[in-house]
Amino acid sequence: MSHDRFLKALRREPVDTVPIWIMRQAGRYLPEYRRLREQAGSFMGLCQNPELACEVTLQPLRRFDLDAAILFSDILTIPEAMGLGLHFIPGSGPHFHHPLRTTAAIDRITVPDMADDLGYVADAVRLIRRELDGKTPLIGFAGSPWTLATYMVEGGPSKTYQHIKALLYNEPQALQQLLDVLARSVTAYLNMQIAAGAQAVQIFDSWGGVLTPQAYREFSLYYMQQIVARLEPAPDGSTVPAILFTKGGGAWLQDIAASGCHAIGLDWMTDPRLARAQVGDRVALQGNLDPAALYARPPIIRAQVAATLDAFGPAPGHVFNLGHGITPAVDPEHVAALVDAVHEYGRT
Ligand code: CP3
Repeated sequence: MSHDRFLKALRREPVDTVPIWIMRQAGRYLPEYRRLREQAGSFMGLCQNPELACEVTLQPLRRFDLDAAILFSDILTIPEAMGLGLHFIPGSGPHFHHPLRTTAAIDRITVPDMADDLGYVADAVRLIRRELDGKTPLIGFAGSPWTLATYMVEGGPSKTYQHIKALLYNEPQALQQLLDVLARSVTAYLNMQIAAGAQAVQIFDSWGGVLTPQAYREFSLYYMQQIVARLEPAPDGSTVPAILFTKGGGAWLQDIAASGCHAIGLDWMTDPRLARAQVGDRVALQGNLDPAALYARPPIIRAQVAATLDAFGPAPGHVFNLGHGITPAVDPEHVAALVDAVHEYGRT
């Protein structure tokens, strides 16, 4: 009965064992991913071709007994559809040809047409659902407005957040205007994924942790809350659980739990015992093994899994995951050890 463990755990219902999926479970640590990526020529070429996106989504499920699939795509599809000109620089990550550096540039940003500009994502979701055939649930996802705005204003990865922080302090209303357009875009985007068959959604707030507590509530959590409140039910009428993952958000769990989300993703800096004590039974928790633990030998990985499961305790509502995405250097054999250890030790 592994097919519904994940959705049950998100609803905090009892499960036979703890479900697991892994952030970035499809990706460069898999040789079969690297081969297909080579053939496609580019990462966006993979994302924009529904057959290839479907194939990459399924690759980790063929190797490991994972309890959920996650759509193969990227959070930056929305800024790309807004015309910012996404490209990847090897060794440096995602960049935009046209970063938003003026309030005039922000004024020109509008919600993309979902069917015309992002319809390939819905096509991929439909194809993946057909291939999964009810055996494994499918997670849809998007970036948080704050995280997308950070990439759009900085123009790429940043260590100082110079441009977005200057905008936040100098022109908070311009930033709020941008975040509002992004929140409406993400809402339409996730609702498109839900209509196409996504059975849970995760919002990745990768940069929320660089904000002050007050700014986090005002510039990140507020907009995620708007999105969660506007998510539509699945085509069968069921509620689609929303998972909020703020990297660096461990100090704000009570606020996040009050946002209306169904589950909170914890990074590895957060103590699961304290997290559970803070949120009680209001939400499910997801996480939070240190991704770097996968560099260790399998017996050590098994011990770390046991310690993590003990820290989450026996309360229902735990989905096992890493505290952030899996890294390219990880040995797939170590992932197999992780998944098996979670299912073995998590058995109740
Ligand atoms: O989890 C999954 O398996 C689903 C696919 C997925 C990808 N990106 C595939 C990807 C998901 C959920 C994402 C989310 C994403 N993308 C986030 C939020 C999660 C996080 O890690 O905090 C962010 C910040 C991005 C932006 C982005 N896209 C980055 C930083 C990179 C890596 C760039 C690099 O050169 O290291 C990407 C590209 C990307 N997205 C890859 C994959 C598999 C690697 C592309 C390649 O093949 O080179």
